[in-house]
Amino acid sequence: MAARIVVIGSANTDLVARVPSFPAPGESKMADEFHITPGGKGANQAVAAVRAGADVTFVGRLGDDDFGRRRLDELRCAGVDCTYVRLTHNTHSGVALIAIEPSGENLIVVAPGANMCVSERDVTEARNALAGADCLLLQLEIPHETVYHALRVARKEGVTTILNPAPAPSEPLPDDVWPHIDYLTPNQTEMAALTSDLNAPDAESAARALLARGVGAVIMTLGAHGARCLTPDMDEVVPAFEVEAVDTVGAGDAFAAGLGCALAEGRPLLEAVRFANAAAALSVTGSGAQESMPERHEIEELLAS
Ligand code: RIB
Repeated sequence: MAARIVVIGSANTDLVARVPSFPAPGESKMADEFHITPGGKGANQAVAAVRAGADVTFVGRLGDDDFGRRRLDELRCAGVDCTYVRLTHNTHSGVALIAIEPSGENLIVVAPGANMCVSERDVTEARNALAGADCLLLQLEIPHETVYHALRVARKEGVTTILNPAPAPSEPLPDDVWPHIDYLTPNQTEMAALTSDLNAPDAESAARALLARGVGAVIMTLGAHGARCLTPDMDEVVPAFEVEAVDTVGAGDAFAAGLGCALAEGRPLLEAVRFANAAAALSVTGSGAQESMPERHEIEELLAS
């Protein structure tokens, strides 16, 4: 049976310009190419999880505008259950302004709009879906109070939780929230933000401090270097797959979704991280956050190679 995953998070329209190099503050740059593509960390993870083989329910908000209706149609066409996606009046759909350099590196500015209306009530309304899930995927592109509420509800329902703490928060999470996170997947910037209240001399001490606060496992994503998994009794780096990156937007989302699917299917942690690394690697070989999310057979082929 397919893994059942609930994603609570953001849905955006990505306005993507390919630039020869990033503009400096105050500078204008001419772009070589421009595309409008579906994005948003929550929606990206929902689509990635469907392609990786899961049954996925998405909880989120879009504006009642052209972008919103298109994004909702696309999510449905991708096979995501959108029963708990609401079109919201009085605000615009979330938009991300993205610049991409030839190396694949990106800069992103998000105007969240309707994403900031994803509420604790939305989570409560989706409680039945959550109760039947194997895994809950969360990010930080919606109100943080909603994320904390979802973590508490998931814990009561016995659902495995994964928090992808992106974008990096301006301050650490409340103390009582940490024990509700089974798997935390920060990159280096996010790790520094999450532990800014600690005097941790390095990433390992910072991760150990989060484990001491109650997080089940910290999986630090290291880009081309793979992912470092720390639990109270493990510290292992799972190497990345070597690929040629054309667009790294959504790689963290592919990783989180891959991890969620593999864990929900019962794979052991290091095997699940390898699966997530494969999903992330494949996602950077194509353009567009959602469009480049790999299908299950592609992930399996890379794992077998
Ligand atoms: O994680 C990538 C996503 O971040 C993009 O799709 C963009 O919408 C921003 O939310």
